[in-house]
Amino acid sequence: MDCQIYGVLFLLTLASALPENPTAKPSNSTAQINSNSVLVALLDSHYTELSELVEKALLLQTLEEAVAKHNITIFAPRNEALERELDPEFKRFLLEPGNLKSLQNLLLFHMIPARIESNHWPDKPLHHTTLCRENIPLNGDKTVSTAKLIKSDDIIRPDGVIHGIERLLIPKSVQQDFNARRSLRTTSAVIPEGAPEVDPRTHRLKKPAPPVPAGGAPALPIFEAMAPGPSLAPAPAPGPGGPHHHFDGESQVKDFIQTLLHYGGYNELADILVNLTSLATEMGRLVSEGYVLTVLAPNDEAMAKLTTEQLSEPGAPEQIMYYHLIPEYQTEESMYNSVRRFGKVNYDTLRLPHKVAAEEADGSVKFGRGEGSAYLFDPDIYTDGRISVQGIDGVLFPAEEGTAAPKAAPAAKIVAKPRRGKLLEVTCKMLGAVGQDSHFSSCH
Ligand SMILES: *[C@@H]1O[C@H](CO)[C@@H](O)[C@H](O)[C@H]1NC(C)=O
Ligand SMILES: *[C@@H]1O[C@H](CO)[C@@H](O)[C@H](O)[C@H]1NC(C)=O
Ligand SMILES: *[C@@H]1O[C@H](CO)[C@@H](O)[C@H](O)[C@H]1NC(C)=O
Repeated sequence: MDCQIYGVLFLLTLASALPENPTAKPSNSTAQINSNSVLVALLDSHYTELSELVEKALLLQTLEEAVAKHNITIFAPRNEALERELDPEFKRFLLEPGNLKSLQNLLLFHMIPARIESNHWPDKPLHHTTLCRENIPLNGDKTVSTAKLIKSDDIIRPDGVIHGIERLLIPKSVQQDFNARRSLRTTSAVIPEGAPEVDPRTHRLKKPAPPVPAGGAPALPIFEAMAPGPSLAPAPAPGPGGPHHHFDGESQVKDFIQTLLHYGGYNELADILVNLTSLATEMGRLVSEGYVLTVLAPNDEAMAKLTTEQLSEPGAPEQIMYYHLIPEYQTEESMYNSVRRFGKVNYDTLRLPHKVAAEEADGSVKFGRGEGSAYLFDPDIYTDGRISVQGIDGVLFPAEEGTAAPKAAPAAKIVAKPRRGKLLEVTCKMLGAVGQDSHFSSCH
């Protein structure tokens, strides 16, 4: 058998689970995945048929382990290729519990253990090994085996890329397995027309990107825009508007502060953002630049537990708030889906380098750990496609600090230039760290 799966864990999973198991969770609770992983993006993407199959095939853990080691490139057949155009007999074969291995091999055949963005696509035919170990040819005419790339670089994340392809790829081994049972005559009989890529159920793809629909795939996060790209071109701003697209971030921030005040129970936070710090202004500036933010908003009860000491230390309110700002657009739905599927998810925060961990608990999303954890309490208080506000019932601190005063943080450094926006400054530092500051016009 030339198509074997990486890892021993997979065999254990295979032995103990059937594809019907819808609540398959990573068996190792220590496993954690970054929220900006290409796997999270795949499951949130418009490739709903593919991601359903990946889940049915119990491949998430295998893939999590793969992206922990190396980048992956995923060739994602459009939904139609896995729905209407797929031979029903072949599909039935794949979904039979006894053929789980064939399904897994088929899916892993669409994944390469390396990062191949379209600007690094080979000119000449190049055979590349896939995650199912069978080779696949990448051809100079932007086809992979016999499938045309119809959406190059559709999804780009720090640990991988997804290209949309027109049809399903079938590795020899799976074809042989199927032939051994039945004939594969009609599997690829339908010629795809490259029709518009609209998921018939969610209608996600064709929606104009800014603003992203609530619950839709997260737009390109800040860190994405900062990642040192292969070219020297300015990093893309979220959405198709390009790097120079400007948004009225200030009024969006005003809008969400107003919403918080009307919502009730979040006055302390609003006060910190507006009166105690200049964070509201800075958030507005960032959003105007094209970045997106998710605010984990501690409610008044949670804020009341903060001591005066914790708040009065220079820079402390800012430091506390940075840890509640995720440089991604996430909704309650997208976060809940991620923690359900992956068990534990790490979100980047603007308090570098600290991440905030999230997991499913009691049918909700729980952030942080132990004593200092907080539940997603008031979902989607505000979601406009660029700013998302999620109410939580606790104030979060980076794990290393426990729930103690946030004084140990490198706050002093950041406080050094009070005239300058703290948030912006942190962002500029991050940009500078990767040598990509030129496109971020407010950094000097
Ligand atoms: C799973 O957890 C066990 C014990 O915590 C650990 O020894 C093992 O290495 C983990 N395996 C993976 C794949 O993370
Ligand atoms: C994935 O690729 C990026 C860009 O080439 C690189 O910075 C990163 O380290 C890679 N990740 C892994 C896990 O190899
Ligand atoms: C800021 O302070 C002023 C004056 O105390 C107050 O009226 C206003 O409500 C505060 N803003 C917020 C958002 O709390």
